[in-house]
Amino acid sequence: MHLGMLQTSRADGQIERDGIYGLHWGNPQENPALRWVRDHYLLPYVDPRHSAIEIGPGGGRWTRYMLGFGQLYGIDYHQELLDELARSFRAPHLRLIKNNGTDFPGIADKSIDFLFSFGVFVHLNIDIMESYLGSIRRVLKSTGCAVVQYSDKTKEGARSAGDGFANTTPELVRPIVIRCGNRILEEDTTTLWHSSIIRTSRPSLAYTRTESGPYSLVSISSIGKACDMAERITITNRTYLR
Ligand SMILES: C[S@@+](CC[C@H](N)C(=O)[O-])C[C@H]1O[C@@H](n2cnc3c(N)ncnc32)[C@H](O)[C@@H]1O
Repeated sequence: MHLGMLQTSRADGQIERDGIYGLHWGNPQENPALRWVRDHYLLPYVDPRHSAIEIGPGGGRWTRYMLGFGQLYGIDYHQELLDELARSFRAPHLRLIKNNGTDFPGIADKSIDFLFSFGVFVHLNIDIMESYLGSIRRVLKSTGCAVVQYSDKTKEGARSAGDGFANTTPELVRPIVIRCGNRILEEDTTTLWHSSIIRTSRPSLAYTRTESGPYSLVSISSIGKACDMAERITITNRTYLR
């Protein structure tokens, strides 16, 4: 699926037009919900003294905001996607690693301050997610945290994507996070229309529930054509409340 989407973007001229593969799924600089994700779940953690992992960076839609880490690992299952990322981003402190789908080869135990993944777990079945959560626990420092966006089939945006989105829900994900030895620090089930976000750590800090970002989706008057990937859903006439 991911290789096919990359080829389609190349053929459509999306990458040439936008400069980064994947911006057609939504640009965090323009889409208010994605901007909230960037500003709340990513930028506050960027620190030049810290090491970070991005799982499934794709073309670098979110990677570009993570380059301020002292060490950044882009971990992807597909070498072709890592090659696409390298086309746009080269930096001595950015290391790209191909994995087996759930591991972090070459990354030491308890060495990572922050981990981020968007647009990846939405396609991963719960057993793969569970395996990843175990790997995440292995590499995170006791003071570190991980932000993972996953498919939320309680939402119409995920349901309308059919098999393109995994059959996960917050109720299914919560016990798995805990079973893998992680702690839920924060969860956001309202900002995104097809997915939810969870922030976890090794057992340490207190749980806070984020009911909503600064923007709550209160009306969707029309939902465009759902492709094999619900991130492509075009939502028009969105009304936001501050
Ligand atoms: C839809 S793209 C999203 C890219 C980027 N995160 C974004 O939001 O624009 C999914 C990315 O995850 C990668 N991927 C898929 N399954 C993966 C897995 N099990 N482990 C690591 N990367 C994976 C794909 O190769 C691709 O780079």
